[in-house]
Amino acid sequence: MISLALTKGRIETEALALLRAAGYPLTEMENKGRKLIFEDGRLSIVLAKAPDVITYVERGVCDAGVVGRDTIMEHASDLYESLDLGFGKCSFALAGTDKNFFDGYAHKVIATKYPKVAKDYFSSLDMDIEIVKIEGSVELAPLLGLADAIVDIVETGATLRENGLFVLREIVPVSARLVLNSAARKLKKQELDDFIGNLKKALEIL
Ligand code: PRP
Repeated sequence: MISLALTKGRIETEALALLRAAGYPLTEMENKGRKLIFEDGRLSIVLAKAPDVITYVERGVCDAGVVGRDTIMEHASDLYESLDLGFGKCSFALAGTDKNFFDGYAHKVIATKYPKVAKDYFSSLDMDIEIVKIEGSVELAPLLGLADAIVDIVETGATLRENGLFVLREIVPVSARLVLNSAARKLKKQELDDFIGNLKKALEIL
């Protein structure tokens, strides 16, 4: 049996639709309540928060995971990215309220839930930057005067728009990925190859 850690929330519904189209009915998950682990013959599903999906797969307690590229960029060190699943599309962007953000050499504060991504982005630019970690609703930081701009995920753009912020620079597109534990790739090669083959076929239909 393959164990798959699946990110709860935004990408969960589309991931389940893909798994069902791939031949895993997951009937037990139709009225799942607060249950966190489900079994369906060939597949065991573990529902977890995105950074924890990375932890469970990296540490080998799950063979595979479905998680956004945003979380992989921020947290992953030793994971094999096997498939772009095509859903959960959004992008990392630098956003703010000041269209002159890039003018001058003044010290700038960047608020973000993704300090590594922000640091990597600014490392190539010759700017005096300080990064402040925020846990959610990062759009508040420039509005309250905590930061000059934010690095965050933009999906529809509604949160930026409704709070008077705009994209200053697109950083990188993001989507949901299938990631694999490196040991499981060898120890469960046949099972994982079959699973990935089924997902690929379903991706062609959907
Ligand atoms: C994410 C992100 C933005 C928003 C973007 O936050 O951090 O705030 O979604 O989506 P949009 O472009 O469609 O408006 P999330 O909803 O995950 O909540 P959080 O800010 O509390 O983490």
